[in-house]
Amino acid sequence: MFSYKELGLVNTKDMFAKAMKGGYAIPAYNFNNMEQMQAIIQACVETKSPVILQVSKGARNYADKFILRNMARGAVEYAHELGADIPIVLHLDHGPNFEVAKDCIDNGFSSVMIDGSALSYEENVKLTKQVCDYAHSQKDYVTVEAELGVLGGVEDDVAAEESKYTKPEEVVDFTSKTGCDSLAISIGTSHGRCKFTPEQCKLVDGVLIPPPLAFDVLEGVEKQLPGFPIVLHGASSVPVEYVKEIEKYGGKIPNSVGIPEDQLRKAAKSAVCKINVDSDGRLAMTAAVRRIFTEQPDVFDPRLYLGPARDELKKMYMRKNIEVMGSAGHAFD
Ligand code: G3H
Ligand code: 13P
Ligand code: ZN
Repeated sequence: MFSYKELGLVNTKDMFAKAMKGGYAIPAYNFNNMEQMQAIIQACVETKSPVILQVSKGARNYADKFILRNMARGAVEYAHELGADIPIVLHLDHGPNFEVAKDCIDNGFSSVMIDGSALSYEENVKLTKQVCDYAHSQKDYVTVEAELGVLGGVEDDVAAEESKYTKPEEVVDFTSKTGCDSLAISIGTSHGRCKFTPEQCKLVDGVLIPPPLAFDVLEGVEKQLPGFPIVLHGASSVPVEYVKEIEKYGGKIPNSVGIPEDQLRKAAKSAVCKINVDSDGRLAMTAAVRRIFTEQPDVFDPRLYLGPARDELKKMYMRKNIEVMGSAGHAFD
Protein backbone atom coordinates (compact mmCIF):
# COMPACT_ATOMS: atom_id res chain seq x y z
CA MET A 1 0.00 0.00 0.00
CA PHE A 2 1.34 3.41 -0.98
CA SER A 3 -0.33 6.64 0.01
CA TYR A 4 -0.15 9.43 -2.52
CA LYS A 5 1.10 11.76 0.18
CA GLU A 6 4.30 9.70 0.39
CA LEU A 7 4.81 10.50 -3.29
CA GLY A 8 4.24 14.23 -2.75
CA LEU A 9 0.91 14.26 -4.62
CA VAL A 10 -2.38 15.93 -3.69
CA ASN A 11 -6.02 14.99 -4.33
CA THR A 12 -8.42 17.22 -6.30
CA LYS A 13 -10.44 18.62 -3.36
CA ASP A 14 -8.65 21.93 -2.76
CA MET A 15 -7.65 22.29 -6.38
CA PHE A 16 -11.26 22.18 -7.56
CA ALA A 17 -12.49 24.51 -4.80
CA LYS A 18 -9.90 27.08 -5.89
CA ALA A 19 -10.60 26.58 -9.60
CA MET A 20 -14.32 27.07 -8.99
CA LYS A 21 -13.68 30.28 -7.07
CA GLY A 22 -11.12 31.56 -9.58
CA GLY A 23 -13.11 30.78 -12.75
CA TYR A 24 -10.53 28.52 -14.36
CA ALA A 25 -10.14 24.78 -15.06
CA ILE A 26 -7.37 22.43 -14.01
CA PRO A 27 -5.67 20.85 -17.04
CA ALA A 28 -5.87 17.05 -17.03
CA TYR A 29 -3.26 15.75 -19.45
CA ASN A 30 -2.78 12.05 -20.22
CA PHE A 31 0.68 10.54 -20.10
CA ASN A 32 2.15 7.18 -21.06
CA ASN A 33 5.88 7.82 -21.19
CA MET A 34 8.72 9.97 -19.90
CA GLU A 35 8.62 12.56 -22.67
CA GLN A 36 4.92 13.28 -22.15
CA MET A 37 5.41 13.55 -18.39
CA GLN A 38 8.36 15.92 -18.82
CA ALA A 39 6.47 18.13 -21.28
CA ILE A 40 3.48 18.39 -18.93
CA ILE A 41 5.61 19.22 -15.89
CA GLN A 42 7.83 21.70 -17.75
CA ALA A 43 4.77 23.49 -19.16
CA CYS A 44 2.94 23.60 -15.84
CA VAL A 45 6.00 24.73 -13.88
CA GLU A 46 6.73 27.49 -16.40
CA THR A 47 3.14 28.70 -16.41
CA LYS A 48 2.74 28.10 -12.64
CA SER A 49 -0.32 25.92 -13.17
CA PRO A 50 -1.71 23.14 -10.99
CA VAL A 51 -2.00 19.91 -12.98
CA ILE A 52 -3.67 16.52 -13.12
CA LEU A 53 -1.52 13.75 -14.59
CA GLN A 54 -3.91 11.21 -16.05
CA VAL A 55 -3.31 7.52 -16.60
CA SER A 56 -5.75 5.42 -18.61
CA LYS A 57 -6.12 1.66 -18.40
CA GLY A 58 -4.26 1.58 -21.72
CA ALA A 59 -1.42 3.62 -20.20
CA ARG A 60 -1.18 1.18 -17.29
CA ASN A 61 -0.92 -1.68 -19.76
CA TYR A 62 1.64 0.20 -21.85
CA ALA A 63 3.91 1.61 -19.18
CA ASP A 64 3.37 -0.69 -16.15
CA LYS A 65 1.75 0.56 -12.97
CA PHE A 66 4.98 0.46 -10.91
CA ILE A 67 6.79 2.57 -13.45
CA LEU A 68 3.89 5.01 -13.63
CA ARG A 69 3.80 5.37 -9.86
CA ASN A 70 7.50 6.13 -9.78
CA MET A 71 7.15 8.49 -12.73
CA ALA A 72 4.56 10.41 -10.72
CA ARG A 73 6.99 10.56 -7.81
CA GLY A 74 9.61 11.67 -10.34
CA ALA A 75 7.22 14.32 -11.66
CA VAL A 76 6.91 15.82 -8.17
CA GLU A 77 10.70 15.87 -7.72
CA TYR A 78 11.21 17.16 -11.26
CA ALA A 79 8.84 20.10 -10.64
CA HIS A 80 10.77 20.87 -7.45
CA GLU A 81 14.04 20.71 -9.35
CA LEU A 82 12.64 23.05 -12.02
CA GLY A 83 11.87 25.57 -9.32
CA ALA A 84 8.15 25.36 -8.46
CA ASP A 85 6.35 22.85 -6.22
CA ILE A 86 3.14 23.03 -8.22
CA PRO A 87 0.27 20.84 -6.95
CA ILE A 88 0.21 17.54 -8.87
CA VAL A 89 -2.59 14.93 -8.88
CA LEU A 90 -2.13 11.39 -10.16
CA HIS A 91 -5.51 10.36 -11.56
CA LEU A 92 -6.92 7.16 -13.06
CA ASP A 93 -8.73 8.08 -16.28
CA HIS A 94 -11.84 6.02 -17.18
CA GLY A 95 -11.47 3.42 -14.44
CA PRO A 96 -13.35 0.43 -15.88
CA ASN A 97 -14.26 -1.43 -12.67
CA PHE A 98 -13.83 -1.54 -8.90
CA GLU A 99 -10.71 -3.75 -9.07
CA VAL A 100 -8.69 -1.36 -11.25
CA ALA A 101 -9.79 1.66 -9.19
CA LYS A 102 -8.82 -0.13 -5.95
CA ASP A 103 -5.47 -1.15 -7.38
CA CYS A 104 -4.73 2.47 -8.26
CA ILE A 105 -5.85 3.72 -4.84
CA ASP A 106 -3.59 1.10 -3.20
CA ASN A 107 -0.70 2.15 -5.43
CA GLY A 108 -0.40 5.87 -4.86
CA PHE A 109 -3.09 7.46 -7.02
CA SER A 110 -4.61 10.50 -5.36
CA SER A 111 -7.73 10.50 -7.52
CA VAL A 112 -9.64 7.96 -9.60
CA MET A 113 -12.40 8.08 -12.15
CA ILE A 114 -14.92 5.29 -12.16
CA ASP A 115 -16.63 5.25 -15.52
CA GLY A 116 -20.00 3.60 -15.15
CA SER A 117 -21.51 5.60 -17.99
CA ALA A 118 -22.15 2.52 -20.12
CA LEU A 119 -24.14 0.88 -17.31
CA SER A 120 -27.75 1.41 -16.37
CA TYR A 121 -28.35 4.35 -14.02
CA GLU A 122 -28.81 2.02 -11.03
CA GLU A 123 -25.67 0.01 -11.83
CA ASN A 124 -23.67 3.21 -12.31
CA VAL A 125 -24.84 4.45 -8.88
CA LYS A 126 -23.93 1.12 -7.25
CA LEU A 127 -20.44 0.87 -8.78
CA THR A 128 -19.61 4.54 -8.19
CA LYS A 129 -20.70 4.31 -4.56
CA GLN A 130 -18.55 1.20 -4.05
CA VAL A 131 -15.47 3.05 -5.34
CA CYS A 132 -16.29 6.21 -3.32
CA ASP A 133 -16.72 4.21 -0.11
CA TYR A 134 -13.30 2.62 -0.58
CA ALA A 135 -11.52 5.78 -1.77
CA HIS A 136 -12.95 7.98 0.97
CA SER A 137 -12.16 5.54 3.78
CA GLN A 138 -8.40 5.65 3.11
CA LYS A 139 -6.15 7.33 5.67
CA ASP A 140 -5.49 9.95 3.00
CA TYR A 141 -8.78 10.77 1.25
CA VAL A 142 -8.71 9.80 -2.43
CA THR A 143 -11.08 11.82 -4.62
CA VAL A 144 -13.47 10.14 -7.08
CA GLU A 145 -14.75 11.39 -10.43
CA ALA A 146 -17.91 9.77 -11.80
CA GLU A 147 -19.73 10.11 -15.12
CA LEU A 148 -23.36 10.55 -16.10
CA GLY A 149 -24.39 10.65 -19.74
CA VAL A 150 -22.52 9.09 -22.64
CA LEU A 151 -19.77 10.68 -24.74
CA GLY A 152 -18.81 9.67 -28.27
CA GLY A 153 -15.44 8.13 -29.11
CA VAL A 154 -14.11 5.47 -26.74
CA GLU A 155 -17.41 5.11 -24.94
CA ASP A 156 -19.56 4.79 -28.01
CA ASP A 157 -18.72 4.74 -31.69
CA VAL A 158 -21.57 7.09 -32.50
CA ALA A 159 -20.75 10.81 -32.26
CA ALA A 160 -22.51 12.66 -29.44
CA GLU A 161 -26.27 12.66 -29.74
CA GLU A 162 -28.60 14.84 -27.77
CA SER A 163 -30.36 11.82 -26.30
CA LYS A 164 -27.13 10.87 -24.52
CA TYR A 165 -26.45 14.24 -22.93
CA THR A 166 -26.40 14.25 -19.15
CA LYS A 167 -29.89 14.75 -17.75
CA PRO A 168 -29.74 17.65 -15.26
CA GLU A 169 -32.70 16.20 -13.39
CA GLU A 170 -30.60 13.13 -12.44
CA VAL A 171 -27.48 14.79 -11.05
CA VAL A 172 -28.65 15.57 -7.50
CA ASP A 173 -29.85 12.03 -6.93
CA PHE A 174 -26.67 10.58 -8.47
CA THR A 175 -24.16 12.68 -6.53
CA SER A 176 -25.97 12.32 -3.22
CA LYS A 177 -26.38 8.55 -3.55
CA THR A 178 -22.78 7.95 -4.63
CA GLY A 179 -20.82 10.61 -2.71
CA CYS A 180 -18.61 11.32 -5.74
CA ASP A 181 -16.35 14.38 -5.58
CA SER A 182 -16.75 15.53 -9.19
CA LEU A 183 -18.94 14.66 -12.13
CA ALA A 184 -18.06 14.26 -15.81
CA ILE A 185 -20.98 15.30 -17.97
CA SER A 186 -21.88 14.93 -21.61
CA ILE A 187 -22.64 18.19 -23.44
CA GLY A 188 -21.43 17.34 -26.95
CA THR A 189 -17.71 16.68 -26.48
CA SER A 190 -16.34 13.28 -27.45
CA HIS A 191 -13.05 11.41 -27.47
CA GLY A 192 -10.54 11.25 -30.28
CA ARG A 193 -9.78 13.45 -33.28
CA CYS A 194 -13.19 13.22 -35.03
CA LYS A 195 -15.62 14.73 -32.58
CA PHE A 196 -18.37 15.35 -35.11
CA THR A 197 -19.25 13.89 -38.48
CA PRO A 198 -18.73 16.19 -41.49
CA GLU A 199 -22.55 16.23 -41.86
CA GLN A 200 -22.84 17.79 -38.39
CA CYS A 201 -20.38 20.59 -39.32
CA LYS A 202 -20.27 23.59 -41.65
CA LEU A 203 -17.41 23.73 -44.15
CA VAL A 204 -15.75 27.16 -44.10
CA ASP A 205 -12.59 27.69 -46.22
CA GLY A 206 -11.94 23.95 -46.24
CA VAL A 207 -12.19 23.74 -42.44
CA LEU A 208 -14.98 21.88 -40.60
CA ILE A 209 -16.80 24.11 -38.10
CA PRO A 210 -18.65 22.01 -35.51
CA PRO A 211 -21.98 22.76 -33.83
CA PRO A 212 -21.75 24.45 -30.41
CA LEU A 213 -21.61 22.55 -27.14
CA ALA A 214 -24.86 22.21 -25.20
CA PHE A 215 -24.25 25.00 -22.70
CA ASP A 216 -27.92 24.81 -21.70
CA VAL A 217 -27.26 21.31 -20.32
CA LEU A 218 -24.22 22.59 -18.40
CA GLU A 219 -26.30 25.47 -17.00
CA GLY A 220 -29.04 23.02 -16.02
CA VAL A 221 -26.48 20.91 -14.14
CA GLU A 222 -25.01 23.99 -12.42
CA LYS A 223 -28.48 25.04 -11.26
CA GLN A 224 -29.12 21.62 -9.76
CA LEU A 225 -25.68 21.35 -8.15
CA PRO A 226 -24.41 24.82 -7.31
CA GLY A 227 -20.66 24.81 -6.63
CA PHE A 228 -20.15 21.16 -7.53
CA PRO A 229 -17.03 20.41 -9.65
CA ILE A 230 -17.88 19.42 -13.22
CA VAL A 231 -15.48 17.66 -15.61
CA LEU A 232 -15.25 17.81 -19.40
CA HIS A 233 -13.85 14.80 -21.22
CA GLY A 234 -13.11 14.73 -24.92
CA ALA A 235 -12.00 18.36 -24.86
CA SER A 236 -9.18 18.40 -27.38
CA SER A 237 -9.46 21.22 -29.89
CA VAL A 238 -7.72 19.19 -32.64
CA PRO A 239 -5.61 22.13 -33.90
CA VAL A 240 -5.86 22.54 -37.67
CA GLU A 241 -2.11 23.33 -37.87
CA TYR A 242 -1.20 19.91 -36.50
CA VAL A 243 -3.70 18.11 -38.71
CA LYS A 244 -2.29 19.93 -41.77
CA GLU A 245 1.31 19.23 -40.71
CA ILE A 246 0.62 15.52 -40.22
CA GLU A 247 -1.06 15.26 -43.62
CA LYS A 248 1.69 17.32 -45.29
CA TYR A 249 4.24 14.78 -44.07
CA GLY A 250 2.34 11.70 -45.22
CA GLY A 251 -0.25 11.09 -42.50
CA LYS A 252 -3.89 10.39 -43.29
CA ILE A 253 -6.30 11.71 -40.70
CA PRO A 254 -9.39 12.87 -42.63
CA ASN A 255 -12.41 14.59 -41.10
CA SER A 256 -10.52 15.65 -37.99
CA VAL A 257 -12.49 18.16 -35.97
CA GLY A 258 -12.29 19.23 -32.32
CA ILE A 259 -13.93 21.56 -29.84
CA PRO A 260 -13.28 25.25 -30.59
CA GLU A 261 -11.09 26.80 -27.90
CA ASP A 262 -13.39 29.74 -27.21
CA GLN A 263 -16.06 27.26 -26.10
CA LEU A 264 -13.61 25.49 -23.81
CA ARG A 265 -12.57 28.84 -22.35
CA LYS A 266 -16.21 29.66 -21.69
CA ALA A 267 -16.68 26.27 -20.00
CA ALA A 268 -13.54 26.78 -17.88
CA LYS A 269 -15.07 29.95 -16.42
CA SER A 270 -18.14 28.00 -15.25
CA ALA A 271 -18.42 25.04 -12.84
CA VAL A 272 -16.15 23.05 -15.16
CA CYS A 273 -13.08 22.55 -12.96
CA LYS A 274 -11.23 19.90 -14.99
CA ILE A 275 -10.69 19.71 -18.74
CA ASN A 276 -9.25 16.52 -20.25
CA VAL A 277 -6.85 16.64 -23.18
CA ASP A 278 -5.14 13.65 -24.74
CA SER A 279 -5.68 13.66 -28.52
CA ASP A 280 -4.11 17.10 -28.99
CA GLY A 281 -0.92 15.82 -27.38
CA ARG A 282 -0.89 12.87 -29.76
CA LEU A 283 -1.31 15.21 -32.71
CA ALA A 284 1.44 17.58 -31.54
CA MET A 285 3.97 14.77 -31.08
CA THR A 286 3.04 13.01 -34.32
CA ALA A 287 3.32 16.24 -36.33
CA ALA A 288 6.84 16.85 -34.97
CA VAL A 289 8.00 13.26 -35.52
CA ARG A 290 6.61 13.10 -39.07
CA ARG A 291 8.27 16.40 -39.97
CA ILE A 292 11.64 15.21 -38.72
CA PHE A 293 11.41 11.84 -40.45
CA THR A 294 10.64 13.59 -43.73
CA GLU A 295 13.12 16.45 -43.46
CA GLN A 296 15.95 14.41 -41.93
CA PRO A 297 15.67 10.87 -43.29
CA ASP A 298 19.08 10.01 -41.85
CA VAL A 299 17.89 10.46 -38.25
CA PHE A 300 17.66 7.21 -36.32
CA ASP A 301 18.49 8.31 -32.76
CA PRO A 302 15.12 8.43 -30.89
CA ARG A 303 16.32 11.43 -28.90
CA LEU A 304 16.47 13.41 -32.13
CA TYR A 305 12.76 12.98 -32.81
CA LEU A 306 11.31 12.42 -29.34
CA GLY A 307 13.13 15.51 -28.03
CA PRO A 308 11.54 17.90 -30.56
CA ALA A 309 8.18 16.11 -30.08
CA ARG A 310 8.49 16.79 -26.34
CA ASP A 311 9.28 20.47 -27.02
CA GLU A 312 6.23 20.83 -29.27
CA LEU A 313 4.07 19.22 -26.61
CA LYS A 314 5.37 21.56 -23.95
CA LYS A 315 4.69 24.59 -26.16
CA MET A 316 1.13 23.43 -26.76
CA TYR A 317 0.41 22.76 -23.07
CA MET A 318 1.80 26.16 -22.07
CA ARG A 319 -0.50 27.86 -24.53
CA LYS A 320 -3.49 25.83 -23.33
CA ASN A 321 -2.83 26.67 -19.68
CA ILE A 322 -2.69 30.37 -20.54
CA GLU A 323 -5.37 30.71 -23.21
CA VAL A 324 -7.83 27.86 -22.67
CA MET A 325 -7.78 26.56 -19.08
CA GLY A 326 -6.95 29.92 -17.52
CA SER A 327 -4.97 27.94 -14.93
CA ALA A 328 -1.65 29.72 -15.52
CA GLY A 329 -0.49 31.60 -12.44
CA HIS A 330 -2.85 29.69 -10.13
CA ALA A 331 -0.51 27.00 -8.75
CA PHE A 332 -0.23 28.75 -5.40
CA ASP A 333 -3.73 30.22 -4.99
O1 G3H B 1 -10.28 8.97 -22.89
C1 G3H B 1 -9.39 8.29 -23.33
C2 G3H B 1 -8.00 8.77 -23.32
O2 G3H B 1 -7.73 9.54 -24.45
C3 G3H B 1 -7.05 7.63 -23.13
O3 G3H B 1 -6.90 6.89 -24.30
O4 G3H B 1 -7.22 4.55 -23.54
O5 G3H B 1 -5.97 5.09 -25.67
O6 G3H B 1 -4.95 5.57 -23.44
P1 G3H B 1 -6.22 5.43 -24.24
P1 13P C 1 -9.59 13.92 -26.15
O1 13P C 1 -9.63 12.69 -26.98
O2 13P C 1 -10.51 14.97 -26.66
O3 13P C 1 -8.22 14.45 -25.95
O4 13P C 1 -10.15 13.54 -24.69
C1 13P C 1 -9.32 12.99 -23.72
C2 13P C 1 -10.07 12.48 -22.54
O5 13P C 1 -11.21 12.79 -22.31
C3 13P C 1 -9.35 11.61 -21.63
O6 13P C 1 -10.18 11.07 -20.66
ZN1 ZN D 1 -12.19 10.79 -21.29
